[in-house]
Amino acid sequence: MTTVFAESLQQSIETTRQNLSALEEFPESFKHGLWRPIEKERPAGHWVDGFWTGLLWLAWAHSGDADLKAGAERWNKKLAHLKTSRGTHDLGFIFYLSHVIAGRLTGHADWFDNAITAAYTLTQRYNPRGEYLQAWDDDGIRKWAGRSNIDLMMNLALLYWASEKTGDASLADIATQHARTSRLALVRGDGSTAHVADFNPDTGLLIRQEQYQGYSYDSCWSRGQAWALYGYATCYRYTAIPGFLTTAQALADYTQRHLPADLVPFWDYNSPHIPETYRDSSAASVTVCGLVELAAVDSQNAARWLELAERMLHSLCERYLIRDAQGASSILREGARSVPANLMEHGLIYGDYYFLEALTAFTRPDIHQRAFAVESNLSGMSE
Ligand code: GLY
Repeated sequence: MTTVFAESLQQSIETTRQNLSALEEFPESFKHGLWRPIEKERPAGHWVDGFWTGLLWLAWAHSGDADLKAGAERWNKKLAHLKTSRGTHDLGFIFYLSHVIAGRLTGHADWFDNAITAAYTLTQRYNPRGEYLQAWDDDGIRKWAGRSNIDLMMNLALLYWASEKTGDASLADIATQHARTSRLALVRGDGSTAHVADFNPDTGLLIRQEQYQGYSYDSCWSRGQAWALYGYATCYRYTAIPGFLTTAQALADYTQRHLPADLVPFWDYNSPHIPETYRDSSAASVTVCGLVELAAVDSQNAARWLELAERMLHSLCERYLIRDAQGASSILREGARSVPANLMEHGLIYGDYYFLEALTAFTRPDIHQRAFAVESNLSGMSE
């Protein structure tokens, strides 16, 4: 596998280099692997924008190519103004994979200031009655004020990281409380997840589980499952709270039991149309990174999780990697951005980013460690 991973890494860096020359906007989706903007013009600040900077930073860390570094710095600066934006719950994705990763890989701590401000901005979405972070925009409609989602789990790393940096425990407390609420509201007894939780924002009581990008309210959207797996493993890494580890193990176990033969998930583990429906290669990339994170904190089962992660990554390299890209292209094919919204068979910038993160974990653990290792854990917290 070592050769396949090394070749796939070189291809990913080459595609990222080509995209740096070709792209003028932050990329999100690539229909059939080829870049074309799906939305009308939009200002920087969409939830996906940190994945492009994350790709540039990791590609630079591997190659040492000065153009990639200059590109990463230039695109990072386009995101800086979002540090006070209340318009997205994804400040964790955006700032960890632009400013935190930049500071950690270059050693220039100046990048951290904006990321710390972004962490405080994210906490403004915390509803203390329901003890959850609100998803999507606060447009004054009660329905949205009461919504949270499983994807938010991936934004908690920014809060924990900022808590470490500042010594302000309130940031970590919000992350931990949100993770506890999500576990009750969104993680089912069989280790699967619902996508959306609908709370009464005034009382904080859970009303129901809902779907948005999955097949139905009681199905399991595969990318959401992957966000949850990675998110709970990260929460355990920072806090050592045992319930977060058992949750991540249950999520990984469910995932393993529902993977198809080539180990790249269909877009929803419970779609009744399997196998005549769409894959989501991005769900596979995120799952591999989640398994690597889980292996790092679950020594008893580490070999099991790493073996699965390695085989999934190998399948992505062999069957989903685009090797003959010309011009702007995604790295992977066959992502499902949203099947209910009829957006599938795309290359997706987050699938590409986590593919490179996964290859980094297997080929250059030193870079992976520099970018993501916890500096000091915040244990001492209790269940
Ligand atoms: N966080 C949105 C998605 O995964 O599509």
